[in-house]
Amino acid sequence: MRGKLIVFEGVEGCGKTTQLRRSQQWLVDSGWQALLQTKGYLQHLVTTREPGGTALGLQVRQLLLAQPTTEAIESRAELLLYAADRAQHVDGYLNPHLLQGALILCDRYTDSTIAYQGYGRGIDLNLIAQLNHVATNGLESDLTLWLDLDAATGLVRTQQRGTADRIEQADLSFHQRVQQGFTELAQRHPQRIIRIDATRTETEVAEQIQTVLTQRLAAWYGVERLKAEG
Ligand SMILES: Nc1ncnc2c1ncn2[C@@H]1O[C@H](COP(=O)(O)OP(=O)(O)O)[C@@H](O)[C@H]1O
Ligand SMILES: [Mg+2]
Repeated sequence: MRGKLIVFEGVEGCGKTTQLRRSQQWLVDSGWQALLQTKGYLQHLVTTREPGGTALGLQVRQLLLAQPTTEAIESRAELLLYAADRAQHVDGYLNPHLLQGALILCDRYTDSTIAYQGYGRGIDLNLIAQLNHVATNGLESDLTLWLDLDAATGLVRTQQRGTADRIEQADLSFHQRVQQGFTELAQRHPQRIIRIDATRTETEVAEQIQTVLTQRLAAWYGVERLKAEG
């Protein structure tokens, strides 16, 4: 059976990486992974990210997140670097795993490009839609969890994480436009993009995500809700 792609999206510091790890752990601890494997619905569970989900992508990630030294990265060049990372990730990682029947948890995907390069940098949204299509070859997420948090709160959280990368260092108004982008995307795609209130505690956010995952897994695989601990 073909696998599923679940994406975590949102502004800097909204909790994507934290919640992706917690979701992975929960899928194991709750028994969902074992149940789906036993029934033959799922082969394995993997986590990945954009940019940087492949060896080439890791090099692109370093280019994208490094502090500028001699020259700033132009917006169109930035857009194309993200697209190159994505094309490599889709063809070299995501599609092969989906064909094998994996459940994939992915940190960022196409909506980030629309929010950051479109709403944030101001690049034409039609151009980004076309480029996303080229980069993904039409692969869309099965479910996108949008961790909704205002940009300022997210940036404060990232400051507790240590040194800021090139994107985190952009001014607050840039991150506010990005947040507006995610907000509009969620309104436009209510089936695919599910809003999660990311202002709550880590545990409360995790519980919201578990509720959504439980519903979706049951719907996708037609199995009764698993009454497992944890
Ligand atoms: N719900 C939360 N409340 C407060 N702080 C959080 C919460 N979730 C994550 N954090 C902290 O905020 C910072 C950013 O979280 P992270 O998961 O790295 O965000 P992202 O991957 O979306 O940038 C980390 O230091 C993390 O420990
Ligand atoms: Mg992260």
